[in-house]
Amino acid sequence: MPIDLTAASVTEAVQKAFEGTADERVKELFSRLVQHLHDFTREVRLTGDEWFTAMDFLERVGKTCTPTRQEFVLLSDILGLSVLLDLIHHPGSGSATDSTLLGPFYVEDRPTAENGSDISGEVTGTPMFFNGRVLDSDGAPVAGARVDTWHSDGQGSYDVQMQDTLHGRLAMRALLTTDDEGRFWYRSVAPRSYPVPDDGPCGEILRAAHRSPMRPEHLHFRLHAEGFEPLITMLVRSDDPYVERDAVFGVRRSLVVDFVQRDAGESAPDGTRMDKPFQTVERTFVLARKEQ
Ligand code: BEZ
Ligand code: FE
Repeated sequence: MPIDLTAASVTEAVQKAFEGTADERVKELFSRLVQHLHDFTREVRLTGDEWFTAMDFLERVGKTCTPTRQEFVLLSDILGLSVLLDLIHHPGSGSATDSTLLGPFYVEDRPTAENGSDISGEVTGTPMFFNGRVLDSDGAPVAGARVDTWHSDGQGSYDVQMQDTLHGRLAMRALLTTDDEGRFWYRSVAPRSYPVPDDGPCGEILRAAHRSPMRPEHLHFRLHAEGFEPLITMLVRSDDPYVERDAVFGVRRSLVVDFVQRDAGESAPDGTRMDKPFQTVERTFVLARKEQ
């Protein structure tokens, strides 16, 4: 290792130390990471105290993580990194539905549900009926597509945040399958805008910057179908006050939809005569074919 390094020469010395890395991509990632980290440190003349604060912060981010609380994902989200990755790899060209970030509340072990069923898991709230359609870019239905959906309740909480009332039971999420016409539909309760979890280290950043922790009201979707690119996306309520102020920068204009308010006495899309006000939401999703 070279000795007598200077603030200017140390970067190249560290990069050279990675030259034996067998994997070319890993070597490139470390070399460029070192370059940017060192350039940042020189540019802002980072002090020892500031670096210690940052290390302490990252330690606390790690200690906040649990199987249902992903503070590192949240850090990536509030720094705009999650959305940057998505925009680089899914820039939104072509006819396919735009993607956006997954967020920390997707759960692998979600229940499957039949079309038309109530996926609210007995959580109470304003009834919401969702009707979706999955098409290919020529407008043909995609039958047998697997569609995950998940959303918050009317207080803005996800099931995994409701340990006190649900005791680990999952609700307001399901895996559905499209029928021969590419349709899927379900009943649930209407979601609401909510703050990203701000009682941990990431909340400190938001408060220090006087940033709102709010996400506009939305429904999440993750679609898979044989021969098509998977799609992770989200539909955002058009009249929500936070549409243009999403704490995690995840709103795309093409994903903003009307959540239509219906009165008591009207019929729901499934024909049920409703005795209380309810909402309906509709959307067609277009999947891109996998390149051969
Ligand atoms: C969500 O939409 O579920 C979400 C996304 C990023 C951070 C927190 C929540
Ligand atoms: Fe969400």
